[in-house]
Amino acid sequence: MQPDSAIYRARRQRVIDQMGEGVMVIATAPEVARNRDTHYPYRHDSYFYWLTGFAEPEAVVVLVGGREPRHILFCRERNEEREIWDGFRFGPDAAREAFAFDEAFAYGTLDAELPRLLENQPQLAYIIGRDMAWDAKVVGWLNSVREKARSGVHAPSRLVDARIWLDEMRLVKDGHELALMRRAAEISGGAHRAAMRATRPGGHEYEIEAELLSAFRRGGAAGPAYTSIVASGANACVLHYVFNDKPLKDGDLILIDAAAEFGSYAADITRTFPVNGRFSAAQKDAYELVLAAQAAAIGAVRPGSLWNAPHEAAVRVLTQGMADLGLLRGEVDGLIESEAYKRFYMHRTGHWLGMDVHDAGEYKLKGEWRPLVPGMTLTVEPGLYIRPADDVPEAFRNIGIRIEDDVVVTETGCEVLTTPPKAVAEIEAWMRG
Ligand code: GLY
Ligand code: MN
Ligand code: MN
Repeated sequence: MQPDSAIYRARRQRVIDQMGEGVMVIATAPEVARNRDTHYPYRHDSYFYWLTGFAEPEAVVVLVGGREPRHILFCRERNEEREIWDGFRFGPDAAREAFAFDEAFAYGTLDAELPRLLENQPQLAYIIGRDMAWDAKVVGWLNSVREKARSGVHAPSRLVDARIWLDEMRLVKDGHELALMRRAAEISGGAHRAAMRATRPGGHEYEIEAELLSAFRRGGAAGPAYTSIVASGANACVLHYVFNDKPLKDGDLILIDAAAEFGSYAADITRTFPVNGRFSAAQKDAYELVLAAQAAAIGAVRPGSLWNAPHEAAVRVLTQGMADLGLLRGEVDGLIESEAYKRFYMHRTGHWLGMDVHDAGEYKLKGEWRPLVPGMTLTVEPGLYIRPADDVPEAFRNIGIRIEDDVVVTETGCEVLTTPPKAVAEIEAWMRG
């Protein structure tokens, strides 16, 4: 089997080939203080990690294009005192070896080395405008090179946003990435199963959140890929509800949007089910409408299909259903045209998924929705949200439903990566078990 470092090196070389001439500089994420000496759990930058597989903070990758391409890493030096407190650091020599770089330098030498690397290069690519401190650093390096103008040295005349190459490449996942995403999906699916089994009237949303977090870590995931939403009753109509602190009531539905990050890749799953294990008639009608919308949307995910096709398919099914259930009055085409459906379905049907839960990649090319190609991974997540004050038949109030799965575009259609129970009978049987 190819070592991971060879995979990352090949990825970097593809980036260099795309860039052609010039230098690309990508830094990892900074550590962020929570208060005083306490930090938020460290998470590397996704672009940096995608290029390196290197997880330590204070690191920068420099890719030099042209006739003699070079892969260069800047990272922290070994430090006995710091390693006693914080743990192992590779240091430049071991990191160069382990992560397949041509050269590696101490992070502290960045400002001294970078101007040298930029001499006589035609362009500099980095992530422009994401971090003002980095923008200032880059300008400083360019000015250092310009100071040597009288000795015949010139600085890069073009600044390019590195994302024009990196986003397109991150958008289509390779086999290594898909294997990690499958595992993230599997662990997250197991967590949803455990959460369904643990749900009962009289419990609390936070107890269910605890089941999810426990299953993520037991499965070997780093933790949640995003803040878990555990929303019962009307809370499910608050799209970004994260308080997760209310008691679970008999007769309510509960919506869980939660998934793990494994190997730096996210899953993103939502399930909605009855707290007491049995759908009421109105809950079942509403739920099966969202399920049908999701099936229609998943059916529209295949190579050549435009990005918006799954959304359009979901909106059509949902709007027809809203009319059939008496939530909206009017004729379906008109209700879609006037966007009347947005009262009950106000978000889009999915997003790219990968290292970031809302992953890198454009949705339109030259102003048009882009066609799907094999290896793209996305979520399919239609919903229906009927708030307490909505003027609809009583039985439909306080119902928030979303069903979200992760799919990868294949040569012939798509594969659904996430498999926790979804059909009404399947959910009821699982909760009885
Ligand atoms: N969990 C974030 C989303 O569904 O987009
Ligand atoms: Mn999502
Ligand atoms: Mn989600």
